[in-house]
Amino acid sequence: MLIEFICNGKETRVDVPAEMRALDLIRNELLLTGTKCGCSKGECGSCTILVDGDPVCSCLLLAPKLQGKEITTIEYLERTNGELHPIQQAFIEEGAVQCGFCTPGMILSTKALLKKNSAPTVIEIEEGLSGNICRCTGYTKIIKAVQSAALKLQGAEK
Ligand code: FES
Ligand code: FES
Repeated sequence: MLIEFICNGKETRVDVPAEMRALDLIRNELLLTGTKCGCSKGECGSCTILVDGDPVCSCLLLAPKLQGKEITTIEYLERTNGELHPIQQAFIEEGAVQCGFCTPGMILSTKALLKKNSAPTVIEIEEGLSGNICRCTGYTKIIKAVQSAALKLQGAEK
């Protein structure tokens, strides 16, 4: 099936098998390997991408469903001048990245959360990241990173 969508700001046209997962299209065909595959069951959130701004588990999404959508992967957050996005900076500064496997999904879920709620409470952060599992950090540093990112983003482009 021929599908057309916007991927990281670029018009993208690909021919995909009807049964291909969006995750496999993104990693294996588009070579955007920042999107991770942890469980393939919609449980870990490591495969999170943004579809029209909302976090979605790409392991549960068929590639043809991307037709007409706008998707964002972690690769798109880096600024064109090579600087990291403020959310990425906050995760590093707060020590919220250990093995890093959950981090792309965590950061994209954080981006979606802060777009809707620029100053979330701890409970709102926990709810916003409830689809993303981290095996390393114990979450405390991730929550601090989200709070720090919220401050960094005040008045800046989200
Ligand atoms: S790989 Fe998709 S939720 Fe775990
Ligand atoms: S930093 Fe290792 S899974 Fe989160």
